[in-house]
Amino acid sequence: MTMQTSPATPQTVRFPDGFLWGAATASYQIEGAVDEDGRTPSIWDVYSRLPGAILNGDTGDVACDHYHRMPEDVALMKRLNLGSYRFSTAWPRVRPDGAAVNQKGIDFYSALVDELLEAGIVPWVTLYHWDLPQALEDKGGWLNRDTAHRFVEYATTVYDALGDRVQYWTTLNEPYCSSLLGYTAGRKAPGRQEGVAGLIAAHHLLLAHGMAVDELRGLGATPENGKQVGITLNLTTAEAFDPAEEADVDAARRVDGFFNRLFLEPLFNGRYADDLATDTEGMTYQDRPWQDWIRDGDLDLISRPLDALGVNYYSPQGASGRPHEDLLGAGVPHATRPAASPFPGGEEIVFPRRGLPTTAMDWEVRPEALTRLLERVRDEYAVPPIYITENGAAYDDVVTPDGAIHDSDRRRYIDLHLRAINDAINDGVDVRGYFVWSLLDNFEWAFGYHNRFGIIHVDYDTQVRTPKDSGLWYAGVAATNQLPG
Ligand code: NOJ
Repeated sequence: MTMQTSPATPQTVRFPDGFLWGAATASYQIEGAVDEDGRTPSIWDVYSRLPGAILNGDTGDVACDHYHRMPEDVALMKRLNLGSYRFSTAWPRVRPDGAAVNQKGIDFYSALVDELLEAGIVPWVTLYHWDLPQALEDKGGWLNRDTAHRFVEYATTVYDALGDRVQYWTTLNEPYCSSLLGYTAGRKAPGRQEGVAGLIAAHHLLLAHGMAVDELRGLGATPENGKQVGITLNLTTAEAFDPAEEADVDAARRVDGFFNRLFLEPLFNGRYADDLATDTEGMTYQDRPWQDWIRDGDLDLISRPLDALGVNYYSPQGASGRPHEDLLGAGVPHATRPAASPFPGGEEIVFPRRGLPTTAMDWEVRPEALTRLLERVRDEYAVPPIYITENGAAYDDVVTPDGAIHDSDRRRYIDLHLRAINDAINDGVDVRGYFVWSLLDNFEWAFGYHNRFGIIHVDYDTQVRTPKDSGLWYAGVAATNQLPG
């Protein structure tokens, strides 16, 4: 695969002083040790065991065994000159079954934070990266308002334990995935396909976020105390596959509505978008419209001011609203139909290939879409400083006989996206940091261990870690605060 660089001879690009260079992971994807030291099952332990849910039947049981290799992994971060490490705490480790506090779970994250600080690496905590305790799912999961209250308890526990040493706090990672993909499309845990229920889950997740923000503020998590609190959204550019086709333009509007505006509007404008109501008119859950789950005051809580907006960006979305068969009939290549629609009404949505390069996830590569996305968010919403909390790519890595991984595609992907971020910064967007996804190859959800995103290779048989060429290159970028020409 070839990617064009632009301009033809890349220039050296310097980032603003103090720009945070990091890498990210998530608990279920790397830790393993799923039944040790008091941890109880999460929805991912259960979902990954459902026949056909995960490629090759993989689970996070062992993953990168990070729980037992944490000091070695922090040493690798130091070797790669990381300024910051974004990790998530596992709710079922800290409060097994969503109930009483488990000191051993807390001890693990406390030791991790100490190890990071010792290595001169800034810890960045994400409180929820999808591993809801299964015991709470058994009580309705994110369709049950009580789960939001349980989240606040859990967030408080983590803040009490780590708040003295951790400056950066993210409440939720990609609530789109835990709501619409988890409860509407059934493509992520808990794997439910219950139509408009995904919007109720989204509302309760946002509520959990807002209530946790209030609670953490009360505990001292304020900029005056040097703390930052935010949320991470997976945002995208929604583009009509054919702008001359009305159905495609409408599909792009809906993609924008459900991926982006479902979260941006309530968080930054204290409301849900009007077209969301139109799009879901007449759809019910337990014979009631999803808005019945919204209570007075919820949107005030949800729209509490934040100190940071985390943006995860991987690829643009070129959507078509025309039936799959029509597209194939019209000769549109690779118009693959997704397994299940993320739209509450189950409307078909097709993302035809557009001749752009793709990664091993079959995701399109279009770095300049990230520039446009950042400018759009800045122009349309009063957002706080932005951090790119995830960006990166899966490619089919080859380990050469001498043990090296010459992943030039991944290095180029990261380089081009960093240039796109720099373009946004030059246009005045306040972007303050970048976290590559991911530090390590890890459990890539439905794709199991097959798709590798790491800048460090993991041999899952031996658990040997080897920095890839991209990782060694990134170490230079982080050390010099610039992209080489
Ligand atoms: C977003 C998610 O936050 C992360 O868990 C996942 O592995 C990456 N995207 C890549 O799909």
